[in-house]
Amino acid sequence: MSDQIRVLVSETQVDERVRELGKQISADYEGKTPHIVTILKGGVFFSCELAKRLTVPVTLDFMAVSSYEGGTSSSGVVKIVKDLDEPLEGKDVLIVEDIIDSGNTLSHLLKILQERHPASIRICTLLDKPERRVKKKVRVDYCGFVIPNEFVVGYGLDYDQKYRNLPYIGVVEPGQQDAEADKTQQRK
Ligand code: IMP
Ligand code: MG
Repeated sequence: MSDQIRVLVSETQVDERVRELGKQISADYEGKTPHIVTILKGGVFFSCELAKRLTVPVTLDFMAVSSYEGGTSSSGVVKIVKDLDEPLEGKDVLIVEDIIDSGNTLSHLLKILQERHPASIRICTLLDKPERRVKKKVRVDYCGFVIPNEFVVGYGLDYDQKYRNLPYIGVVEPGQQDAEADKTQQRK
């Protein structure tokens, strides 16, 4: 039943990278007030840690979209589950995401948000899996880590809503009991 998690990016590595990104983003937004649009739920852990490292004032809003039905493959369908509370007009929007995989979610989202006439829009993602990209046009302005094509959990990312609270990023490997169950299943 219990899954094993193989650490891909340690807690120390994530913390260090978030600090670096915080410095870079603070410098880039000097004299401005970025409006951080966090994509729920996965982007929350990263967004909070990042916001704490910014030295410029920020405002926050949240949006929830769905593209995955719960498994590990993309349906390609994106719908707004929770919209922003405030208008974006004239704001310097910084979208904060957990991961860019196919790019479907962000390319769709960008289209919707551009229509609300922000002064600027940039994208900051904790993780990027470029090998999986279907939408080539998604421009990533800030990225924590480029990772290989593996399904990851932790630091906001889930597998069937589990593991979001891990302080590191890891790959789920089926536990011993699951592996045995799979073998039994295959013998049937
Ligand atoms: P995209 O639309 O294919 O780019 O998918 C983006 C969304 O899929 C992310 O915001 C995640 O919620 C989810 N996702 C993609 N890859 C992973 C993964 O490796 N682990 C957990 N969630 C993932
Ligand atoms: Mg997400």
